[in-house]
Amino acid sequence: MPPPGRRKAFSLNLLPLLVLFVFSVGAHAASAALGIDFGTEYIKAAIAKPGSPIEIVLTKDSKRKEAATLAFKPSRAQSNDNDAYPERLYGGDALAIAARYPADVYPNLKALLGISPDERSAKDYNDRFPGLQIQSVEREDGGNSIGFKSKNLGKPEPFMVEELVAMELQNIKANAEALVGKNNFVSDAVITYPAFYTAEEKRALELAAELAGLRVLGLISDGQAVGLNYATTRAFDAKKKDVKPEFHIVYDMGAGSTTATVLKFHGKNIKGPGKKNSTVQEVQVLGIGYDQHLGGDALNDLIVQDMIAKFLDTKKAKAQGVESIQVKKDGKTMARLWKDAEKVRQVLSANQQASASFEGLYYEDVNFKYTLTRSDFEKLAESYALRIAAPLSSALSMADLTLSDISSVILHGGLTRTPFVQSELEKAAGTASKVKTNINADEAAAFGAAFKAAGLSPSFRVKDIRTADIAGSSYTMKWIADGKERSQKIFLETSHVGAEKQVTIKSTDDLQIQFFQTSPDQQVSTPILTVEAANLTKSTSELKNSYGCASSNITTVFTVRLNPFDGLPEIISGTASCEAQKAKEGSVMDNVKGMFGFGSKKGEQQPLNADGESLEEDSTAETPLPVDDPTSSGSIVSEATISGESLASGTAAPAKPSTVAIPLSLKSSVIGAGAPPRKALPVIKQRLTAFDTSDKNAMLKSEALNVLEAFTYRARDYLEDESFASFSTDKTRQELQQQLSDVSEWLYGEGSDAKLQDFKDRLKGLKALVDPVLKRKEESSKRNEAIETLKNSLNNASSMMDMVKGSIEKAAQDAASSASSAAASVAEGASSAVSPDAGNDLEDEPYAAGAADATETDASMPKPYEYSAEDLSSIEKAYNSAKSWLDEKVAAQAKLSPYEDPAVLVSDLEAKAKQVGTAVSDVIMKSIKLQQPPKAKKPKSSKKSKKTKSTSTSTGNADSTVDATASATASGKDEL
Ligand SMILES: *[C@@H]1O[C@H](CO)[C@@H](O)[C@H](O)[C@H]1NC(C)=O
Ligand SMILES: *[C@@H]1O[C@H](CO)[C@@H](O)[C@H](O)[C@H]1NC(C)=O
Ligand SMILES: *[C@@H]1O[C@H](CO)[C@@H](O)[C@H](O)[C@H]1NC(C)=O
Repeated sequence: MPPPGRRKAFSLNLLPLLVLFVFSVGAHAASAALGIDFGTEYIKAAIAKPGSPIEIVLTKDSKRKEAATLAFKPSRAQSNDNDAYPERLYGGDALAIAARYPADVYPNLKALLGISPDERSAKDYNDRFPGLQIQSVEREDGGNSIGFKSKNLGKPEPFMVEELVAMELQNIKANAEALVGKNNFVSDAVITYPAFYTAEEKRALELAAELAGLRVLGLISDGQAVGLNYATTRAFDAKKKDVKPEFHIVYDMGAGSTTATVLKFHGKNIKGPGKKNSTVQEVQVLGIGYDQHLGGDALNDLIVQDMIAKFLDTKKAKAQGVESIQVKKDGKTMARLWKDAEKVRQVLSANQQASASFEGLYYEDVNFKYTLTRSDFEKLAESYALRIAAPLSSALSMADLTLSDISSVILHGGLTRTPFVQSELEKAAGTASKVKTNINADEAAAFGAAFKAAGLSPSFRVKDIRTADIAGSSYTMKWIADGKERSQKIFLETSHVGAEKQVTIKSTDDLQIQFFQTSPDQQVSTPILTVEAANLTKSTSELKNSYGCASSNITTVFTVRLNPFDGLPEIISGTASCEAQKAKEGSVMDNVKGMFGFGSKKGEQQPLNADGESLEEDSTAETPLPVDDPTSSGSIVSEATISGESLASGTAAPAKPSTVAIPLSLKSSVIGAGAPPRKALPVIKQRLTAFDTSDKNAMLKSEALNVLEAFTYRARDYLEDESFASFSTDKTRQELQQQLSDVSEWLYGEGSDAKLQDFKDRLKGLKALVDPVLKRKEESSKRNEAIETLKNSLNNASSMMDMVKGSIEKAAQDAASSASSAAASVAEGASSAVSPDAGNDLEDEPYAAGAADATETDASMPKPYEYSAEDLSSIEKAYNSAKSWLDEKVAAQAKLSPYEDPAVLVSDLEAKAKQVGTAVSDVIMKSIKLQQPPKAKKPKSSKKSKKTKSTSTSTGNADSTVDATASATASGKDEL
């Protein structure tokens, strides 16, 4: 290939590389954000990528949702390696093998996150999936979490639910990564949770996400996520005074549970950047209601029970006297019934009757046909129908609203498509028209979560929609002071997430504060967090000793809030303070301000509170309001009060005694089923990694197998190929033949269980035979052209040498008078001599332009460059060495047969051609640089015309460069 063309190819190759590079840097700086709607039966995910709209993450089979099911299937590797891991299947693939491996297919795990094995949900689960072996896993705090023993792993250690859920989330993450493209990883995520989730359940979900390698930016309640999605496509006016906010209820019925969320939507004028007012949208949760056990699973269960009853009624079952408990304990039978019950239920949503038939159910020779009409189904579900309205009214009463305040009931979740659910809701809503199916009932929560993730991620700018959620449960603080147990209800169910409160506790001794969670529907309180104020004693004695404070004058204040991340309570700071009589340095004041959260801290808080606009009114309204618990010895100090005091004393009153505050060291530890089992974590992580490695190896192996197999096919073709034969010896071909048949035999025999390295080694063996032959063939096909190119370079060098020689001679002969005419001819010679070679030089265009310039200015006047003897000899040297090298190589090559390794490589020929070209162009460059510039005044007008000219000449020149070389090559070929 001629040099210019080659260079073009080079730069074209470089371009996509550059684009790719820039792109990947950009992608890393602005990584994608994932929203996961983590459901009982399905996991749905949506992803926000920079520069494109939020889209659903498709599964491996291009489905828009993944069944929340995981399975361990015996792997090939396990057949000859006891330590090998089973293969993991997800979604539909996993469900498909449920009847075959009932102990290793794990559906609907959400129900088990963060609960103890003795809770109702665990029992329900066990009844529904009797094939699974639930094991209780002991925790450090003495409690138990749920684990499973896998049959197909072949090891006794159980899997914790969190670990299995982590695998499912990992799979979602991988699907998302497949969507954003190679070399991009997805880690930022927002995950949905049901409004009734306890601290333990939330933490279990967080742990699973962490194990999956996700960075959880926040959790979002299902109703809030749907509301957020609803708000993205709507605008709520804020300008006029008489515009009221809109209230809607999101009624979400999924496989596991049902929740109702009362939401307030309104627009809000805020001061935007640059003092411009702007309207932001706000979605605020006001109340929730729920039924934790009302959902698709419960309805499926009704059908399964009905199926069993009818099955027991069959002749065969009666004859055998089989009892219902026997059928219910049979994992395989239950898996089959369960799967078809779901289908029957779905069919009944659109049809009056549905049926299912089972071959070999329970008994191998029993075929069982089951039929259910919609009206019979509705009879079965009667008691459930009565429960449908309850979440709605609880949510309303928590929000302190009535149905008439509500604009619409927005339906979400697959189960809201069930006819009797809809009709019950229409009854509950008063009018059918209030019940709306105006959002995507399957995907709105996933989209909402992705929108929130994008909003929280630094990589995106999204429409400004503020969200505010409520605690959902109430929280109580308990501690012991002066030997008495004290308690204070610190957050109500309707307390705003993110809002802070100051709690004053009368205590001068080290303190342990416990937080308890109480869900609205249950009377029990569960301890969820302990915070120790470990150096309170030390701090109060410092106040006494160094500042002369009296014990009775020392106040201990803690700042408590519901963490915006997951809505759970936490103590963010604590101080012991008093009014010091001994005045101290000014720095104390700053300290106080900092401690109470007015200094720099307040600045940090503000963004959380929606620019201090809307939420502030709520939080200030809220802060003094709640909970005067009579048993409490503490009191809630409103932020505003403290703010007034401290600012006054801080700014203007040096006479007053100043407040001294010492920060307390706080140590928080979470308790309960959701607490990460610290000892188990390393084991779990190790096992997850081992699984990943095993999956990856299996994939690499199947890839290696495919590559090897494909190579054997190609190699067989080579053996038939005449040109391959001419570049190889008989011996090589015989050996290849032999190896090929060996490899084939091995591949279809023991090779199927071989190790990755074995495949690689076999491939290497084959390639060692084939590659040298292919290389010879390729060299041979390109060699003549490369020789031609080098010859061209030599020819160019030769004519350059003639020209330089001539000009030196002429210069010697001629006196100054004839100099200009000589220069002109030199220049002409130069440009024609140069052109073909310009291609060898990377600075092609500037150079060409320069040459053109030189030509023109010559005519006008400047003193031309005079070639020297060194110029000549440098070209001659390059020419002679390349020429003799080429002659020698060509002669050597002529003596070789095609199947022998070549005497000279194409790459060497090309390098030589380049050397010669460089020697020539160096001299030309020198002649241009050293040429005397034309006198400054004259050009102005001519320069302009020259400029236009020179561009055209330069392109013309460049083109002709290529042409010249091409024609030279062509003519060269003709000669040969
Ligand atoms: C911004 O809003 C405030 C309060 O509503 C109003 O007084 C002011 O005129 C507005 N400014 C602009 C530029 O619209
Ligand atoms: C404690 O506070 C009271 C009332 O503020 C004050 O009179 C008294 O001097 C204080 N005692 C000490 C030791 O600072
Ligand atoms: C108590 O701990 C906090 C935080 O570590 C520290 O700032 C403070 O100085 C400590 N108090 C005393 C008296 O050492």
